[in-house]
Amino acid sequence: MGDTGKTTLIHKIDEMRGIASRARARGQSTGLVPTMGALHEGHLSLVRRAAAENSLTVVSVFVNPIQFDDQEDLASYPGTLADDAEAAFSAGADIVFAPSAKEMYPEGFSTYVDMTGVSGRLCGASRASHFRGVLTVVSKLFGICMPDRAYFGEKDAQQLAVVQKMAAELCMNVEVIGCPTVREGDGLAMSSRNARLSAQERASARCLYRALCEAKACFSSGETDAGALTATLRAVIEKETLPRIDYVEIVDPFTFEAVPVAREGDLIALAVYFGETRLIDNMRL
Ligand code: PAJ
Repeated sequence: MGDTGKTTLIHKIDEMRGIASRARARGQSTGLVPTMGALHEGHLSLVRRAAAENSLTVVSVFVNPIQFDDQEDLASYPGTLADDAEAAFSAGADIVFAPSAKEMYPEGFSTYVDMTGVSGRLCGASRASHFRGVLTVVSKLFGICMPDRAYFGEKDAQQLAVVQKMAAELCMNVEVIGCPTVREGDGLAMSSRNARLSAQERASARCLYRALCEAKACFSSGETDAGALTATLRAVIEKETLPRIDYVEIVDPFTFEAVPVAREGDLIALAVYFGETRLIDNMRL
């Protein structure tokens, strides 16, 4: 499809599956970029990469109700399907798959994918059923779109890690590819949530990237004590009056267990509230 320049917006699972099976039968590779819409440059960098590496590129746009603990957060999720489809197509997508919640979770739906250990830490600890919702919808999207490759952002490092682990452990035959975090000019990681920040919160949110860079600089100049490194991070963030820290940790990049002594390759991970808006970011040491 990629070479015909045709683009399609699909709402039904059967139709999406039909296209995916025909692509597979023709020996074409499929790349999938799962999203919840409100697409920005971060999402589009994944779409461009998928389009460069596959003959069929599918972008799913689905605000997955079962990964939100907070129903208000779900209700205020920005919905702009027409804009999203246009942006996805101009970045190289062949298909935008946008099922309804009823199509994905019909009455009586009762099968979930759960992961012990890793998904209970950091973002899993503060939001109990979050990763269960993510893993369930991602496995469902893999089943529908039958991708050879699926693209996820390193910005959501723990999500990337749990999806990679699930695909490997459940033998899903999908290569899960991590893509670098795309940032605004001042370093703030792009996120659909940034639009919810007030002007003051937006200005203050710059401190997150500054804090990550400062902790990384400390590590590079020899500090390996995780407590000292997180104290540096906290100090930068707490200098501001608006942010409220959910967590700031140095973790192992596979288990997401906090480490007492930081090593190269570990992740500095943080989640911080500005008002009601929770932002996450991370940086690799
Ligand atoms: P969403 O937040 O829409 O993000 C979709 C994908 O875009 C994720 O893989 C995310 O890591 C990536 N992404 C977001 N901001 C990015 C940035 N600044 N730079 C690079 N990549 C970025 O993550 C989800 O949706 C959902 O949990 C989903 C996987 C779709 C399951 O519902």
